[in-house]
Amino acid sequence: MSFKACSLQDLTPGEGLRIDSVSPPIAIFLTEEGTVHAIDDTCTHQDASLAAGWVEDCRVECPLHESTFSLRTGAVDQPPAKKGVRVHTVELDGDDVLVELSQDAPNLPPGVKI
Ligand code: FES
Repeated sequence: MSFKACSLQDLTPGEGLRIDSVSPPIAIFLTEEGTVHAIDDTCTHQDASLAAGWVEDCRVECPLHESTFSLRTGAVDQPPAKKGVRVHTVELDGDDVLVELSQDAPNLPPGVKI
């Protein structure tokens, strides 16, 4: 079942928004191209918020190290992170950004619990 994560007006092109009303938190991204994506906010390497990362070409770079994650598939490109993040389904209803959470188990880094 989907829930309203935020409004389109809450999002800035090229930036992420952390949503911590769900556990683990998720990050919503509005790309410069105008697409909206939702992935798990916590990097799979260490406890870093991907919403604070740098977005380019539909990928987000972790703010701590150099791994980048695809906003479309969650796949990671290179170490130190080894596992991808979950991708959540996004639907737009007018200005509402609706998210349906993935049922997969999250790939949380060591020491981070839900
Ligand atoms: S914490 Fe994200 S790559 Fe290290």
